[in-house]
This record gives sequence, C-alpha cells and structure tokens, in this order.
Amino acid sequence: MSVHHPMVNVAVKAARRAARVIVQGSENLDALTIRHKSLNDLVSEVDRASEQAVIDVLHAAYPDHAILAEESGASGSSEYVWIIDPLDGTTNFLHGFQQYCVSIALVHKGVISHGVIFDPTRNDLYTASRGRGAYLNDKRLRVSRRDKLIDGLIGTGFPFRMFEHLDAYTAMLRDMMTRTAGVRRAGSAALDLANVAAGRLDGFWEIGLAPWDMAAGCLMISEAGGLVGDLEGNETHMQSGNLAAGSPKIFAQLLQALQPHLTPALRSQKVASA
Ligand code: IPD
Ligand code: CA
Ligand code: CA
Repeated sequence: MSVHHPMVNVAVKAARRAARVIVQGSENLDALTIRHKSLNDLVSEVDRASEQAVIDVLHAAYPDHAILAEESGASGSSEYVWIIDPLDGTTNFLHGFQQYCVSIALVHKGVISHGVIFDPTRNDLYTASRGRGAYLNDKRLRVSRRDKLIDGLIGTGFPFRMFEHLDAYTAMLRDMMTRTAGVRRAGSAALDLANVAAGRLDGFWEIGLAPWDMAAGCLMISEAGGLVGDLEGNETHMQSGNLAAGSPKIFAQLLQALQPHLTPALRSQKVASA
C-alpha cells in the first residue's frame, strides 16, 4: 500500500481534475477547435483547459511555487517548480486513439522530487517520490527483469516536427528493428516512460523531447530500479531532450546499439534542443 507524500496528493488531485476536462472533451471530439502551433504540433482548447485545471489546483495549495507548463510557459520564481504536460499524446487524443495522459512533476532545487502520470482511459494512476519508490495505483513498480536486448520490447517516439535528425533516427530504428523483439511508437512519451517503469517496455529512446514529456516518467523509472540518460548515458537529457531509458541491463545494450548512429549534435556535450 502506498502512502503518498502530501505534495503527491495535491498533484494527484490536479491530474484528476485535468482528466475530467480531457474525458469531457473526448466525448465530442468533432466540436473541438484545433490550432497548429507548428507543423504537426497541435493544440486544442482541451490542452489549455486541462493545463488551467492543473495550475488552479497546484496554486491553491502552493501559491508561491513556480510553474513550467507546456501551453502557458514559465511563471513565477521559486526553488519549487511544477513541470506540467496537461495532455501528453494530443495527436492521439484528437483522433480518439486511446493513448494519452496528464503528466506532472515537482522539481525542488533542480532535482525531480515527485511525479504523477494519470491515464484517464484506463484510470491508471502512476506516482513516484524520490527515495520512496514508484507505484501504479497501489502496486509497487519494478522495471523488467529481461536481460537481453534481443528479447526486449522497446518504445520510441518518431521525429515528427523537426527533421534534422531523421537520418540518424531511421538508422537507429533500423538497427532496433533487427536487434529487439519489437519496437513500439505509441504516441505519448510520458506513458511510454511509465510503461518502462512498470516493466511492460524494456527500454525507450527518443530525440527532441521537452522537459514536460519526461520529468515525471524519468523519476518513475529510476524509482522502479531503471536508468535514464541521454543517448550516451549521461545526465544531460533534461536539457538536450534526447533520452534513453530502461532496466540497467537493457539500458547498457540500448546505448551500445545507438552509439554508431550518434552525430556530433546528438552527443552529450550538446545541450541545444533537438
Ligand atoms: C508528444 C508525445 C509524443 C512524443 C513527442 C511529444 P504532446 O507530446 O509525447 O509521443 O513523440 O515528442 O511532444 O505534444 O502530445 O504533448
Ligand atoms: Ca508531451
Ligand atoms: Ca501536451
């Protein structure tokens, strides 16, 4: 039985409030107004209303905390920063493809301390607090025990709005297709990471993620006994957006397989976003 940290309880309340907005929106997708933020990058009023719901709940409890949210950006200044993806998997959501979630993380003095991911389509609540483990509802999570990449099911995200790394990525994908039991592109990075924490995916990699896609999921994986890093295994992923993750054994083999395809821009020293 998990006893949540009080800050997690607040984040759970915020995620459930947001999920109500999302579920309501999903009942009449045709009525939604969709705007292109950029090529293949969509936002609807559901993304914005969900974000507002999260911020309202967090601010009611912690008026002085800072926010970094996908749709409204950064606000406030505090050693506590909430990182919010109000709807991760917007393209899926807009098509009625049921793989999307709300992701909320709390960073304290630069360290991810708590994370909540809520999947409203399955009513799955993932929570993690640093040093206290990761949970799916009340069940403690552990990463998978599979130890060979060739037996592993690996998640990924395709580059879909910035194509500068497409050649490197397709070379990686080609290798992964022949060196694993299967590759999945489900369309919600936060849920992919929760699935790594839950041991359903053995590993994951993606180029060009944003902090709100990753923050909660990365904590979940490390609290479930897994490893996260950039494509060389170093801790620059939150800055570069280039992420690899997995159980310790699969993580090492994944990095090894990706290594030959790394361009200078994809190596650790680069912190510019992909
Ligand atoms: C996206 C999803 C997708 C991933 C992208 C993200 P959004 O988030 O997580 O799986 O491949 O990199 O931007 O835009 O749906 O919140
Ligand atoms: Ca996202
Ligand atoms: Ca989003």
